[in-house]
Amino acid sequence: MKILVTGGLGYIGSHTVVELQNNGYKVIVIDNLSNSAIDVLERIESISGIRPEYQELELRDKPAVISFFQKHNDIHGIIHFAASKAVGESIENPLLYYENNLNTLVYLLQECEKYAIANFIFSSSCTVYGEPDSLPITESAPVKKATSPYGNTKQIAEEILVDLSHVSETLQTIALRYFNPIGAHKTAEIGELPKGAPQNLVPFITQTAAGIREELSVFGDDYATEDGSCIRDYIHVVDLAKAHVVALERLLNKKNASNYEVFNIGTGRGSSVLEVVNAFEKVTNQKLNYKIVDRRPGDVVSVYADTHKANNELGWKAEKSMEDALESAWKWEKKVRGM
Ligand code: WQD
Repeated sequence: MKILVTGGLGYIGSHTVVELQNNGYKVIVIDNLSNSAIDVLERIESISGIRPEYQELELRDKPAVISFFQKHNDIHGIIHFAASKAVGESIENPLLYYENNLNTLVYLLQECEKYAIANFIFSSSCTVYGEPDSLPITESAPVKKATSPYGNTKQIAEEILVDLSHVSETLQTIALRYFNPIGAHKTAEIGELPKGAPQNLVPFITQTAAGIREELSVFGDDYATEDGSCIRDYIHVVDLAKAHVVALERLLNKKNASNYEVFNIGTGRGSSVLEVVNAFEKVTNQKLNYKIVDRRPGDVVSVYADTHKANNELGWKAEKSMEDALESAWKWEKKVRGM
């Protein structure tokens, strides 16, 4: 079974390629290297013993996408990660996000229709929910107006997939709405390596602990939460990667209940920013340098997953703890910095 993984050299993509290969799947990776590095191929090989087939491809280049599928028409499934994902950047540069996250999806789906590629796993996000009305949040919660072009592209992408599912003869889709992926593979061969200053919390924490950053800014401690800082559902990236294999097999084995399904992929546990900081200090046995600053515009106060549907229907459950994730993130950071 040959599976195409777009963005397969990226953070979540590379961890998913490892899990696919560990489960006997033949993988072909495409990536434009805009937010990843080619040496991830060797790193994947060092973990799973197999070097995935790779082709550099700019998915915004429609003719290139067409010729890729002319060459590779033995693809049984697609896991589509390739997209831009920085909330702040999307506000500065919306057209980059609408082109890179949506045109590329349309070109891929046109090829799926052409070659009757039936199995499509889409990388969505809890961002589509905006500020939830109630918690934990279920898949039937209303999708709210996005607070960023990034979030809007995830909403529009899901709408494109729903509209296509009404007319396609073949396409079967599962959209996985990720909560907050953190951590790294236990070998510290692959992990999150943001280009420039990290937008996300955990890489900023580990870079501060490594002395790359002066101190962590905690964006607000005056929210209506127990300790005043925002709450999120932090999920180990390896648990998240495994969810993609389970979802793919649901489609390959035709176990899906409809041709468009959505699952929340989180732990079901909410943790505040300050709880994450304290957990990191406990796990690494070192003080973290941080200060409380103003709120970050666009942040939701609290969001964490109701995971019953993923647990009971998809048959997947997060197994790793926050401490596991933070420990792996720190091990990865130290490896990257040669500490
Ligand atoms: C988490 C919490 C911040 C950095 C976004 C996207 C989501 C996904 C993950 C792509 C918030 C606080 C952060 C810092 C801080 N993106 N924080 N200091 O915003 O929940 O989710 O990234 O897949 O789709 O929406 O993640 O890690 O940026 O923030 O205090 O230096 O940490 O205010 O409360 P977020 P995050």
